[in-house]
Amino acid sequence: MSTSLRFKTSYVVFFVFAAMVALSHPCSGNSTNQTGNSWAWPMEKWNVHVANQMGDVRTLVTHCKSKDDDLGIHDVSPGSDFNWSFKVNIAGTTLFWCYVHNDHQHANFQVFWVENEEKTSWLHYRCRWKSCIWVAKDDGIYIRNSPESRDEIQHQWEPGW
Ligand SMILES: *[C@@H]1O[C@H](CO)[C@@H](O)[C@H](O)[C@H]1NC(C)=O
Ligand SMILES: *[C@@H]1O[C@H](CO)[C@@H](O)[C@H](O)[C@H]1NC(C)=O
Ligand SMILES: *[C@@H]1O[C@H](CO)[C@@H](O)[C@H](O)[C@H]1NC(C)=O
Repeated sequence: MSTSLRFKTSYVVFFVFAAMVALSHPCSGNSTNQTGNSWAWPMEKWNVHVANQMGDVRTLVTHCKSKDDDLGIHDVSPGSDFNWSFKVNIAGTTLFWCYVHNDHQHANFQVFWVENEEKTSWLHYRCRWKSCIWVAKDDGIYIRNSPESRDEIQHQWEPGW
């Protein structure tokens, strides 16, 4: 009696464990091609970087936000990087944008948004489903295309702050 109860208990524990493992791996239902899965799994950890690679010795001032978080104003010296991590919300509405400026120019752009499976995975592909790297250079704002190891210009500097 007690042996069979113990057997049943371990059976239940096994199934709960198996279900947890299955739920924590969104791709386990089908393809194991992680890079082909453009859906941002809720609660998965992402990070965004805003790097200063301006050739002249100029400080980059960053002010990044989402609807819920204001990440504050940061001075990023040449060669360094402001970065943060977050989890995508269940509703899939996570969106971050940054206002940045140097001594005489500014730019305002989105740095992270959620892409659905039906749409292109333009951003998530470049971020390799993990890290979005934006790079401020003298001629504009670039995104690092991580899988292809190159920077692609996205935004021009606008005059003034
Ligand atoms: C599983 O993935 C393959 C491609 O990797 C696709 O052709 C197939 O339709 C998928 N099956 C289901 C049930 O989603
Ligand atoms: C995974 O999917 C991506 C995009 O659909 C494709 O470019 C890549 O070749 C696939 N990789 C493998 C190993 O199937
Ligand atoms: C991310 O930011 C931290 C400071 O918060 C810094 O020490 C680190 O170098 C940054 N990461 C990269 C890749 O630059």
